[in-house]
Amino acid sequence: MKNHKPEINIDDVQSVERAEEAAERLRDAIRYHNYRYYILDAPEISDAEYDKMLIDLSRLEQKFPEILTDDSPTQRIGEEPIEELGLVEHPSPMMSLKTVYEKDDVVRFDETCRRDLEKDSIAYLAEPKFDGLAVELIYEGEKLSVASTRGDGQTGEDVTENIKTIREVPLVLEKYGDVPPPNYLVSRGEVYMDIEGFQALNDRRADENQPLFANPRNAAAGSLRQLDPRVTAERPLRIFFYGIENAIELDLSTQEEVLRQLQTWGLKTNLDLSRICRNIGDLLDYHQEMEAKRDGLPFEIDGVVYKVNNLDHQQTLGTRTRDPRWAIAYKFAPRRATTKLHDIAVQVGRTGRVTPVAKLNPVRVGGVEVKNASLHNLSEIERKDIRIGDSVLIERAGDVIPQVVKPIESKRTGNEKPFNFPEQCPVCGASIIMSEDKKQAHCPNAKCPAQILGRITHFASREAMDIEGLGEKRVQQLIDAGLLSGIGDLYQINKEQLVALERFADKSASNLIQEIESSKETTLPRFIYGLGIPNVGIATARLIVQHLNTLDEIRSAERSDFLEIEGIGPEIADSLIAFFNEPHNKELIDSLMSQAFDLTNPFEGSEKPLQGLTIVFTGSLENFTRAEAKEMVERLGGRATSSVSNNTDYVVAGPGAGSKLQKAKELGIDTLTENEFLELVK
Ligand code: IVH
Repeated sequence: MKNHKPEINIDDVQSVERAEEAAERLRDAIRYHNYRYYILDAPEISDAEYDKMLIDLSRLEQKFPEILTDDSPTQRIGEEPIEELGLVEHPSPMMSLKTVYEKDDVVRFDETCRRDLEKDSIAYLAEPKFDGLAVELIYEGEKLSVASTRGDGQTGEDVTENIKTIREVPLVLEKYGDVPPPNYLVSRGEVYMDIEGFQALNDRRADENQPLFANPRNAAAGSLRQLDPRVTAERPLRIFFYGIENAIELDLSTQEEVLRQLQTWGLKTNLDLSRICRNIGDLLDYHQEMEAKRDGLPFEIDGVVYKVNNLDHQQTLGTRTRDPRWAIAYKFAPRRATTKLHDIAVQVGRTGRVTPVAKLNPVRVGGVEVKNASLHNLSEIERKDIRIGDSVLIERAGDVIPQVVKPIESKRTGNEKPFNFPEQCPVCGASIIMSEDKKQAHCPNAKCPAQILGRITHFASREAMDIEGLGEKRVQQLIDAGLLSGIGDLYQINKEQLVALERFADKSASNLIQEIESSKETTLPRFIYGLGIPNVGIATARLIVQHLNTLDEIRSAERSDFLEIEGIGPEIADSLIAFFNEPHNKELIDSLMSQAFDLTNPFEGSEKPLQGLTIVFTGSLENFTRAEAKEMVERLGGRATSSVSNNTDYVVAGPGAGSKLQKAKELGIDTLTENEFLELVK
């Protein structure tokens, strides 16, 4: 039996050996009480006693710095802010969930699962849908090694230091059940802020005259994606784990087991609110019950998630591009409110699209103040017969922009006025082109300041050229000062011109010039994304660069070349062709290229020894992380996947390899050690 309350007199500890031994006892005890407090909700000691242990440990570690370990409970708060969050590639994509709002969709989901599995009935695990942000925590050798956000599903932001500040997250896996923690664990879960913590945080911010967070989810996201972990440490973040990516390798067979196992390794789950459902009646009852419970819970949920319980069945059902076929989110009905629509304004986006926006008397919907709502397009306004001065029903569903559902006709006074879509662009005065179906309005003037503003801001944004200090306000200022009329002008600006402007000092002017200059050294996907081609996001830009390696190849590609790329459909292909054929765009790219841009292709190796090969890594790796291994394989022309099939060419197996290695042997697939793999790619 371990002693959970070690009493240590620091002054008596004189040798490193004694210190090390005492520190280990304290660390064990602290971890145990963490688990009692956070996971079991059943603390055995007072906060003061807990704090005393932490202080003792920290004093010991100060006295004998050589005993400090990076997973010590004193090491939760990193010291230094960083410049930007790094990127982490997920070992396998972080999918999202198909979302439905109607019973019938759940009925269909159940029917499809049963049909595809050829079963009369199957069990599901129903779970709350936590309203926070998805994270992945990888434990290697039982220690937390990397934590990341979902990002675009392939690559997320490295939030390891920030995650470590969450007390609920163990830095080292525990063994509170029969099964020892694995050597390699890819866990997934949701970081959130509970309502009490959110309110306290906002109260504090109000006192300090800082802007308030709109809702707990935004507060959680803003707190996690902080450059300074000391700031994160002060935010009341929490976590629920809900998945293990490598569960089958760990010999788990159901989602329910996954949750139980996570819990015994010290990773907090919410088993209490989860339930096995055996038929459609159970599924629908669960949704109703949770909706009734929703307002009484200490944290926000925005629906429920149904997952096929059996993990083999999950594998059989497989995934679509972005979401699995074995799970679905059934959201709660959106929260609604009525208010007065006092005006309709139109907005011009970077592609020239003109969209109407409802200006509302401020109203709170589900804890958020709403002043603007989307009206989509003229056809929609006419179809719903929305008039200026109407009382309107608005709804807010999840993170979607609030929508105007319909006018409340019974409240009409006769003074309401129909909306006339402006004939001229409110920003540049050009005649707006309205499509016949009244669903698309367009400002045809590529030089429209609103478009220029949008394009330059997009080009400078973080995922594109990442020019720090060049946000929308600054871009507007430079346009107003006549320094910018397009992306190309950015690289002509000099420091003297900036210093002459308001809100620019010598230092900030030099910084911005420096930032602009160094943005020339970037990657090809960022550049392509930065061009703002309609329908081309950063993930698509990456995909293009993986197949067409240089800017010249991309510019001169034909529609069919784009269509050959898996993941690019006709809409994107047309958009690319139209963009690169447009004379102004050609000119822009030529002029940028004449300025010594250095566009590297992150996927290009000089040689491609793995061209066409599919490789699976399993077990733990010594020389690199999973993400690095994956990146290397892709750079060398291959594909790294997570499950072994007949299409697999090699399985690279490290210590602890289990079912995948087994399967490789069964299928007669070549297996390699890590060193043999390195030999292969040398
Ligand atoms: S499972 C492929 N379970 O909902 C499985 N997700 O729209 C994907 N979420 O990105 C995740 N509660 O952030 C799962 N119990 C739960 C969840 C949950 C909240 C979030 C998660 C995910 C999003 C999907």
